[in-house]
Amino acid sequence: MSDFSDRVTGIQPTGVRKMFDLAGDDTISFGLGEPDFQPPPVAIEAFHQAMLDGKNKYTTTAGMPTFRQTIAQSWEAYQPGMDEHNVCITMSGTNALLNLFLSLVNPGDNVLLPEPYFPLYGPDVSIAGGEAKYYSCLFENEFIPQVEDLEALVDEHTVAILYNFPSNPTGGTLNDQQRDALLDFAAQRNLWIISDEVYDRIVFEDKHVSFMGTGYEKVFIVNSFSKTFAMTGWRMGYIISDNREAMQQIIKMQYYITACSNDAMQYAILTAMEKASDYPDIIAAEFQIRRDYIVSRLNAMPGVECHSPKGAIYVFPKVNVPGMNSEEVAMELLKDGVLCSPGTAFGPSGEGHLRFAFTIGMDQIQSGMDKVERTLLRLQC
Ligand SMILES: Cc1ncc(COP(=O)(O)O)c(C=O)c1O
Repeated sequence: MSDFSDRVTGIQPTGVRKMFDLAGDDTISFGLGEPDFQPPPVAIEAFHQAMLDGKNKYTTTAGMPTFRQTIAQSWEAYQPGMDEHNVCITMSGTNALLNLFLSLVNPGDNVLLPEPYFPLYGPDVSIAGGEAKYYSCLFENEFIPQVEDLEALVDEHTVAILYNFPSNPTGGTLNDQQRDALLDFAAQRNLWIISDEVYDRIVFEDKHVSFMGTGYEKVFIVNSFSKTFAMTGWRMGYIISDNREAMQQIIKMQYYITACSNDAMQYAILTAMEKASDYPDIIAAEFQIRRDYIVSRLNAMPGVECHSPKGAIYVFPKVNVPGMNSEEVAMELLKDGVLCSPGTAFGPSGEGHLRFAFTIGMDQIQSGMDKVERTLLRLQC
């Protein structure tokens, strides 16, 4: 018998870092979904100042009321009338996700999850004692799930469905009509919707389409400052819902996970939201330039088909090299000095795909794409 719980022995380390650990110092890395920018300087200064001012203590579990109020107001265009009671600060989107699964799932329940996926979802559901059931988001459907696939999966033990738009790893986004179809599916079966919208401010061309403000009362939005304010290392995020009663349960759970979140950082991020509110747009504009370049380069390469993602920081092209699977292609690229993630790191339907995160500067993207082109030309011969 193992000395450890089934909870921990039943989960595996994620595959995404596997290639990363093999990379050399001079490898060009399209591997990690971490913006290469720094947080806005006003936020760093405010963080320092807050610590000097003694903000080094526990805060209320849900976080500082003015900070939560500002977050609630930032959703005003989607859902007017929310305030601090609608928001719980968490120590990252990762923490927010775990909180929600622990709060919504009983042993024996199941949760519908996207596939290809952000690799935390499934293990989180199993830590909560539930079963993960995966619905596909395929290239041929522009990475949008099909309601008939969801109908085929759902059963009387399904309690929640997770949507992730803009998506990691596919870059898929929704239009209003697609969102409404996914909403109706969940509402008709009385499912909780966990909508992971951590890339909500990194959208290109169209506006972000949210599950907030739809009138359905069983919706939680997961958000994070990691990507939009380039604060991955700060580990700050939040859960927001227009269902205040539901939020009370979430806040209760949060106490037992982290008690509260980082005191000084709440001041720092509040300052960023007030004084550098356009920062996410500045970052998104830079990501859009990179996306345009990388998509046009990839589509000109042999065996490659790439959608132009309307959001997030990834492209997820189909890469067809006869006789090779996506992990083997990724290994060949790595030998030639380029790190990317094989699609299968995000689930079986990622086979035949590679994920490139455009989280490096244009110079590196250009030389990286030159290398990818050379490798693919070599492999196609
Ligand atoms: C889709 C998605 N959700 C959630 C997260 C978690 O973000 P964090 O824990 O840094 O807030 C990530 C990070 O890569 C992500 O891609």
